[in-house]
Amino acid sequence: MLILGIESTCDETAAAVVKDGTLILSNVISSQIDLHKQYGGVVPELACRRHIDVIIPVIDQALKEANLTLQDIDLIAVAKGPGLIGALLIGLNTAKALALAANKPFIGINHIEAHLYAAMMPVLDKILFPCLGVVISGGHTALVLIKSLGTYSLIGQTVDDAIGEAFDKAAVLLGLSYPGGPAIEELAKRGNATRYPLKAGVVKGQPLNFSFSGLKTNVLYTLKGQNSHKDSPVILPPSEYAHLAASFQHAALSDVVNKSLQAAQQNNCQTILLGGGVSNNCYLRDLFKKSQGTLTVHWPETGLSLDNGAMIAGLAFHKFLQKNEGDSLDLEALTRIPF
Ligand code: KG4
Ligand code: ZN
Repeated sequence: MLILGIESTCDETAAAVVKDGTLILSNVISSQIDLHKQYGGVVPELACRRHIDVIIPVIDQALKEANLTLQDIDLIAVAKGPGLIGALLIGLNTAKALALAANKPFIGINHIEAHLYAAMMPVLDKILFPCLGVVISGGHTALVLIKSLGTYSLIGQTVDDAIGEAFDKAAVLLGLSYPGGPAIEELAKRGNATRYPLKAGVVKGQPLNFSFSGLKTNVLYTLKGQNSHKDSPVILPPSEYAHLAASFQHAALSDVVNKSLQAAQQNNCQTILLGGGVSNNCYLRDLFKKSQGTLTVHWPETGLSLDNGAMIAGLAFHKFLQKNEGDSLDLEALTRIPF
């Protein structure tokens, strides 16, 4: 079954063709980093305008690289949420229009569930359930118990900032460019992670929940002094920035590792699946390697950590088979989808 997957939830316009849920024939991603860089974060209106400009060329490119035409496609899949409403509507309406015009079935996919599927894709038949899904992206931080493909329960989430958001905000404080995650990872390579005693938050009575907003405030106070605000002058010498970046990165990522291992143990999971943009981080991969013990940890392959169409098309194969039909063309975009 040949599936075209379309993704436009935030600041990537992406399309891919995947065969039978796992074989990626093309995976085209048009990033908007250049557009949002000067603002230090995603500007929704600009994101939408760019999605409109590039979505058809991106889909054309995905079909071309797969050596196919729209007529060869068996199902059109699209991320229906969660994400920015305007951005979602562009992908969703494009998918509906193509489905209607080419007389193909159409299906909407939860983009967070797809992030978890990205790590499963190459090893699907080897996954032992239950396993633990760890979604760490710009908009989400969640620990999800996966009982089978499609059966989930949420066992931990952030109570304030998402982890990627915390990286992006800390990067702005450090004067780094957007997106903050890769910029902090790069700067932190030259720093000593034990220099500043930073810690992620503990959520009272909810040991598997996350809190990163206090950590971000501590980066601000380390840079500009206790009780300073974002417009206060910097007092920390520039030679300390790499140490601060490394200490922040260590605090945020070791919290993810510790809570993931605890959640896996409590729920008898032998396998952990990582998904979302922050799973690109090599320091995180090293931290897991050092402490995972007998647990198996699966990471998304190159090109599948950040938002992409291949994870949407791959998951759509299973959803379509489970439902035995597509969605109706009045399917709505959802800015939030609870697990
Ligand atoms: O999954 P994604 O592309 O979009 C969302 O669904 O949110 O994730 C984007 C997020 C951004 O916050 C970005 O700073 C972060 O992932 N990110 C990283 C790294 N690469 C991307 N964070 C830490 N280290 C990285 N190497
Ligand atoms: Zn995402």
